[in-house]
Amino acid sequence: MSVNVKRRLDYQPPLYTITNVVMHVQLHATATRIKTVSTVQRVGDHNSPLFLDGEKMQLLSLAVNGEAYNLYSHVEGGISLTEVPDTFELTVETEIDPQNNKALEGLYLSNGVFCTQCEAEGFRRITYFLDRPDVLAKYEVTVSGDKEKYPTLLANGNPIAKGEESDGTHWVTWQDPHPKPCYLFALVAGDFDLLEDSYTTTSGRDVKLELYVDKGKRDKGVFALESLKRAMKWDEDTFGLEYDLDIYMIVAVDFFNMGAMENKGLNVFNSKFVLADQDSATDEDFFNVESVIAHEYFHNWTGNRVTCRDWFQLSLKEGLTVFRDQQFSADMTSALSNRIKHVRVMREHQFAEDASAMSHPIRPDEVIEMNNFYTVTVYDKGAEVIRMFHTLLGADGFRKGMDEYFRRHDGQAVTCDDFVAAMQTATERDLSHFAKWYSQSGTPVVGVSRMYDKQKRTLHISLSQHTPATANQQEKEPLYIPVAFECIDDTGKHYPDDDGLIKDGLVILDKPSVSLMFSDVPESCLPVVLGNFSAPVKVDNPLSAKELLQIFRFADDPFNRWDAMQSLYDWCITQIELDKSVPDSVWKALADVIAAEKDNHELLGECLSIPSFETLCQTRVGVDVAALASARQSFCAQFASELQSALLTVWNGFSSVSYTYKQTDVNARRCKNVALGHLARTADGEALIEKQFAEADNMTDSLGALRAAQSGSAEVFNSLMTAFEQKWNHDPLVLDKWFALNATTEREDILAHITMLKSHPQFTMGNPNRVRALIGSFAFYNPVGFHQPDGSGYQYVTDYLLELDQHNPQVAARIVTPLTQWQNYADKHQQKMKAQLTRLVNHEGLSKDVFEKVSKSLA
Ligand code: PHE
Ligand code: ZN
Repeated sequence: MSVNVKRRLDYQPPLYTITNVVMHVQLHATATRIKTVSTVQRVGDHNSPLFLDGEKMQLLSLAVNGEAYNLYSHVEGGISLTEVPDTFELTVETEIDPQNNKALEGLYLSNGVFCTQCEAEGFRRITYFLDRPDVLAKYEVTVSGDKEKYPTLLANGNPIAKGEESDGTHWVTWQDPHPKPCYLFALVAGDFDLLEDSYTTTSGRDVKLELYVDKGKRDKGVFALESLKRAMKWDEDTFGLEYDLDIYMIVAVDFFNMGAMENKGLNVFNSKFVLADQDSATDEDFFNVESVIAHEYFHNWTGNRVTCRDWFQLSLKEGLTVFRDQQFSADMTSALSNRIKHVRVMREHQFAEDASAMSHPIRPDEVIEMNNFYTVTVYDKGAEVIRMFHTLLGADGFRKGMDEYFRRHDGQAVTCDDFVAAMQTATERDLSHFAKWYSQSGTPVVGVSRMYDKQKRTLHISLSQHTPATANQQEKEPLYIPVAFECIDDTGKHYPDDDGLIKDGLVILDKPSVSLMFSDVPESCLPVVLGNFSAPVKVDNPLSAKELLQIFRFADDPFNRWDAMQSLYDWCITQIELDKSVPDSVWKALADVIAAEKDNHELLGECLSIPSFETLCQTRVGVDVAALASARQSFCAQFASELQSALLTVWNGFSSVSYTYKQTDVNARRCKNVALGHLARTADGEALIEKQFAEADNMTDSLGALRAAQSGSAEVFNSLMTAFEQKWNHDPLVLDKWFALNATTEREDILAHITMLKSHPQFTMGNPNRVRALIGSFAFYNPVGFHQPDGSGYQYVTDYLLELDQHNPQVAARIVTPLTQWQNYADKHQQKMKAQLTRLVNHEGLSKDVFEKVSKSLA
């Protein structure tokens, strides 16, 4: 396969730019016509041809300054025009087929709704254009279509004119006063229910808020609209950032490759992140709606007003915007549970990506298909890097840096280096070493070692760092790592170090190693590191079970307390893997923990959660899946039987109050459901699960019961699953939870079971949410089923991907991820995983999306 690798360092400024665009879009299911008039300008002094990106369209006509133009030729990926004037009007007419666009990029029609998705490079499927983020233009867009089928016609900006024709069509013209890159272009047409509201900004601008949802779903949009107003207020309060148009629109669509898209003034959302009510959405769904709504809103400044110069800079907008939505969510809900959520994502997914051949820095250097770089590294590790700025500079310093960033770059397309430079100038800090986080990939390991001198009563602690080589980068340099640090003895007393290297609770590890001395301290002193997950690293701090419990009791940092319990569970599971038993003293201590924290539902809920299989993989090498899964299972079983009465007390401790989505209740429900998950493995389990399922007045408790049932008796699980399916058969978004539960169940006949589900009336390969729920959940979260010793799980997923890839390469390339992460598993798995990867790479007609990931993985 011939592929075109793009490199960050090859960036060249555009040879031409486009400053103004006037579009006319005539909607038609299979033959939509688009007439685009662009004002083109040559940049600098040169005679190079004008290359315009374009794919999967028919070119109907082309004119320069109103005259038909034929000095052009079709070249790979677009057209090339020669001998154009320095400044001119380019008119391009194209025709496309939205109904048969199953890739969901560009303009597509699904479920009777026309909508666009242009990030990263979808605009080139609508018209011939300079499809790159450093070309910013003003747009005026007229959309016309059948009035009855598409009463709502939307595009970016403000509506300025509308009209009707005698042939049953109508049209609306939209104008967006803010210059923008074409990836922020959007257009939507359909027949929706509308929720309207308004918001007045601090400076007194009245903004109309409009939320468009499928007919009949109005009530499910209320929470999203309220979330939007909270996000608008928060950004004003926290960063002094106000919205800048008269209208803000959000449209929920059922067919969408990603979560949502921040198109200027017209966000398009996967309906999964808009629609929510007590009956059909869990607490987690409510949380996600609020956080995605905020994320897209925050992009208006970090992404739209200041955008990326090129796609290698994606983390400039995504890392920063994820950090902003995380801070918002922490303020709206609670800091600890949020932090734990982010760390789980890092440990389960980002560390795995870094350990695979897809490892890349948050600012990648080489890309074949940009869609493959919307990764946990760019987004979540990117957000961790921004968080470290915040940690190092403090909230005030960070705000100063942000102010400076907007002062310098509002209206521009810039780089990650520009962001660092603004932070640096505003705070007068030298951030050059810190900036290595942008270019170095891999997960650093921070080692902690200690030496205690009994005679002198001194403790010497050394922190070291080491980043293992990654596929893309052999040599690694020491990074600038902020390590939150506490030193505590077995009475909870905290000690400062002799040399004052611990400042504001942080040690800066900016060399291969740093030594800390503590004089006149007791032998029981322990180093407690990486409070609040102060850096995206792994920690190697050898501690005994007793010491972990000491940290749990006495650390100031609640994240460290939770993490000590996670390490303790990991240690216990290791004991089982080594055929040893978990000492009674540990069970006794765990019972004490539960009793001591019984009123702290948030912490208790988190501390009763056993690390996921995926997290455990990251603290092990050469994983034998069945062996690790069974060690984890047997630990869970013992946990339930040893702690049964304590867990029962927890579960019983929650009087059933009627549902509200508020934090104290969320914490309580979480705690209750985690306890139920354990109790499912005991003799009482069935009765409790059935009781909770029958009495639940909300989806969180219904699903909690179902999840618990998944690890109990098959009979109860199956009967509850059947009841659930019957109740929710009409609502595919809810049924996705059911598909996912099916796909993650451990059962002998899992592959046959999935095959049966693929023919479920509500399942369709055309909808990414369905595919992710069934096939994605299986590949990512059913380790025993996916990693069957005979390789049949790998083969099953591969067969499916080969088919999916023909319609939707972007989604196929995401679901191939678990196969590409073979490095972490035992040899016997590796061979069979690679066999399927080889099958994929040799497949004729494979998309470049899947090709890039698979070929890197085999290299
Ligand atoms: N930019 C979108 C977001 O973060 C993600 C996205 C990327 C959506 C590509 C669609 C396509 O919020
Ligand atoms: Zn984003």
